[in-house]
Amino acid sequence: MRIFSGIQPTGDKHLGNYSGGFRQYAAYQERGDAFFCIVDLHSITVDYDPADLHEQTINMAAMLFATGLDPERSTVFVQSHVPAHAEAAWLLGSVTSFGELRRMTQFKDKADRQDFVSAGLFSYPVLQAADILLYQTDAVPVGEDQRQHIEVARDIAERFNGRFGETFRLPEMIAPAVGAKIMDLQEPERKMSTTGGTPQGTVRLLDPPDVIRKKFKTAVTDSGADVRRDADSKPGITNLIEIMSVATGDEMDAVEARYDGQGYGHFKEEVADAVIALLDPIRSRYDELRSDPRELQRLLAIGAEKAREASDPTLQAMLERMGFVKSEAGRLFGAVRPREL
Ligand code: TYM
Repeated sequence: MRIFSGIQPTGDKHLGNYSGGFRQYAAYQERGDAFFCIVDLHSITVDYDPADLHEQTINMAAMLFATGLDPERSTVFVQSHVPAHAEAAWLLGSVTSFGELRRMTQFKDKADRQDFVSAGLFSYPVLQAADILLYQTDAVPVGEDQRQHIEVARDIAERFNGRFGETFRLPEMIAPAVGAKIMDLQEPERKMSTTGGTPQGTVRLLDPPDVIRKKFKTAVTDSGADVRRDADSKPGITNLIEIMSVATGDEMDAVEARYDGQGYGHFKEEVADAVIALLDPIRSRYDELRSDPRELQRLLAIGAEKAREASDPTLQAMLERMGFVKSEAGRLFGAVRPREL
């Protein structure tokens, strides 16, 4: 089984990214041939600082390994190191409609927060489709917020296959059963996010323990006092139960049973302890890995080489079926073979 997922290097990573992203990546690398991409080309679609992008790309590599990716098993690479992504995105843009991109809720939400809405932000899902389809992906582990993007990737694949001949495998989205959408601790009706959430309601993976404790202590809970799930009337406590389940691996029913009749205050303290226990070892591994950027770059270079080799046949098939003329070296779209890049 081919597995592919991507994560943006910019924006501090948080408990939601852990739950829908990192945690699933580490689990899915065991199930097949896995590719994990640091999507730097996606990060430039909103206002950003080039120095930050540079720094955070290396930070992201450290975080992917710190949360459990094994470089021997998984291919971890930077999107811009594999030109096929940008090339395929241009080609797929011709089988994507303006209407389907205009309907993307992430585009609408992000566009509302920008003074300058880039064309790149609008065509972002096309690049994401290219990421996935180039690798003949079967499974895409992501959080719930990516559902629409994965559906568009499938629609684009089907349209391309229908028009130019069978070229892409149709990918399936894989969201975790628990914690597919971790909510903001202060405003549990919106998802946890460093860009769209509240700072106090967002638990960053690198927050020190006292900061984490404070964030859970001030987390918004609902009326009543039972530690019991009810997404409609108790979104705050429901979210904390999910977080507890993600942090400890215990079933949500077991969490409810354990805290039955104990009140919110004590429960919030224990959720904070569980999250601290989860993140402590990740933070120390991260610090250790981040202290050796050369080694991270070496691993990323190996990943890029493997990703170039894995994606090239699909790009070549796309170009051939679309009618492009080969260059003198017998290649479509440039004369350089992946090995020589
Ligand atoms: P990104 O970088 O915003 O998020 C990375 C992963 O974290 C998940 N996630 C969450 N899961 C649960 N609760 C939350 N509050 C939460 N917030 C974020 C996301 O679902 C994601 O799995 N467009 C993608 C990156 C991307 C990609 C791809 C993903 C580019 N190309 C190809 C899969 C396949 C994004 O911005 O993720």
